[in-house]
Amino acid sequence: MKDFPLEPDRAAMAEMGGFVLDRVMDFVESLPDRPTGNTVDPLATADLVTAFLAPPPEQAGDLKALLDRLDNAVDCAYETAGPGDMAYIPGGGLYSSAVAEFYTRGVNRYGGLAFGAPAMAALEESVLRWMAQSVCGLPEGSGGLLTTGGSMANFSAVVAARHHHLGEDLADGTVYVTAYTHHSVAKAARLAGIRARNIRTVACTAELRMDVEAAAAMVSADRAAGLRPFLLVGSAGTTDTGTIDPLPDLADLAERENLWFHVDAAYGGFFRLTERGRRRLEGIERADSVTLDPHKTLFLPFGTGALVVREPAKLHAAHEGTGDYLQDIESTGGLPNYSHMGPELTREVRGLRVWLPLHLHGVTAFEEALNEKLDLTERIHERLAAHPALDVPWRPDLSVVAFRVRSDGEGPEAVNEADQATRRLLASINSNPRVLLSSTVVDGRQTIRTCVVTHRTHADRVDELLDLITTQAAQP
Ligand SMILES: Cc1ncc(COP(=O)(O)O)c(C=O)c1O
Repeated sequence: MKDFPLEPDRAAMAEMGGFVLDRVMDFVESLPDRPTGNTVDPLATADLVTAFLAPPPEQAGDLKALLDRLDNAVDCAYETAGPGDMAYIPGGGLYSSAVAEFYTRGVNRYGGLAFGAPAMAALEESVLRWMAQSVCGLPEGSGGLLTTGGSMANFSAVVAARHHHLGEDLADGTVYVTAYTHHSVAKAARLAGIRARNIRTVACTAELRMDVEAAAAMVSADRAAGLRPFLLVGSAGTTDTGTIDPLPDLADLAERENLWFHVDAAYGGFFRLTERGRRRLEGIERADSVTLDPHKTLFLPFGTGALVVREPAKLHAAHEGTGDYLQDIESTGGLPNYSHMGPELTREVRGLRVWLPLHLHGVTAFEEALNEKLDLTERIHERLAAHPALDVPWRPDLSVVAFRVRSDGEGPEAVNEADQATRRLLASINSNPRVLLSSTVVDGRQTIRTCVVTHRTHADRVDELLDLITTQAAQP
């Protein structure tokens, strides 16, 4: 067994890195053949879990043996990174981003305040300005914050909106979402001190989009009742069905009613890199704030979200905080201090894991990959909609197709039977280790969804999925 000290020499660093690199390369190469579900049986899973709950030893361990253990833990999982994952919102994980992350952690620059590493802060700021201005179409001067995910981005958006419109008197502030808004928005509002009963669920149209007239009526009624409407949230791609709310109409309503307009584009926002996405996501450029999730549709590994805002000063005003022990820190001309834009102080330079892939592959590579996802989705929609046993109620706005087993009638018994059949269909699809889908409930009905997002999913795997679904759906 080889001992590695806390500060390894060059040869030891190369050896450690080599061990890990080999395994990661083996892993990535094995992805097309890995089963999509967790194939480790429950007893073996329980053993693994117990073993990993053990505290660390007093004495040094063996790196190879530790990596072997880690490989077992990695195998005991559903396959989020492979081409067959079309469940939930898949997360592929670009290799180039993993390399960037290794570099970031290796050099360990301070990313909380710009003085710590001004050029690295500029790198992060360039990514944020690109997302705000080039991707979302917000004006010059817009910017934002890289977070650990969409939930944290939604949280800081709510905090900024609350601070700007309500000040310190939160009791009567009201927020407007729909039944299909991601749950992290309502959670964020509660965490931000908004009363649960003041989070309004606006009705949707038959197309599952926020009903703008219903929202306007709710805002008026709340104002008349002495409440203080302050935040309207539109979804740019709901998690359930990928549906885009009517963003231009919501922007008009927000303007008329002096509401903060937040768009949750965690899933859909990066489709703005494509021509189709730009058309379908029109209106996002009128938002006060937008949540994006590079760990979804920019294919990054888990752990990177973004909040972009029209006026960074408002985000800053809501999150500013300091202490005497920071008195020696100089401001660094023109660069934001990210610790004053969100809840965290010490953090890594988060931008490198976005910056390196963008600079290395070029934006066009992402545009092409996202266009491919939209094409694949149209292919899925066409095949499923043509199947007599399936009900495919909504045309996809982006890359989610929602479907269910067709019901023989409208009555509760027929609907219940179709729901059971939909569950059975999902189970039979997912018993095949080449693909994985997930389900949701839409309009009270069991609904299966395909979500094509990872950069590793291509036509061959989608065709396998379609053959499987259409064959299984034809079984009585
Ligand atoms: C539309 C939407 N918003 C927010 C989130 C939350 O993002 P995260 O899981 O990165 O916290 C998700 C996650 O799937 C989402 O789909």
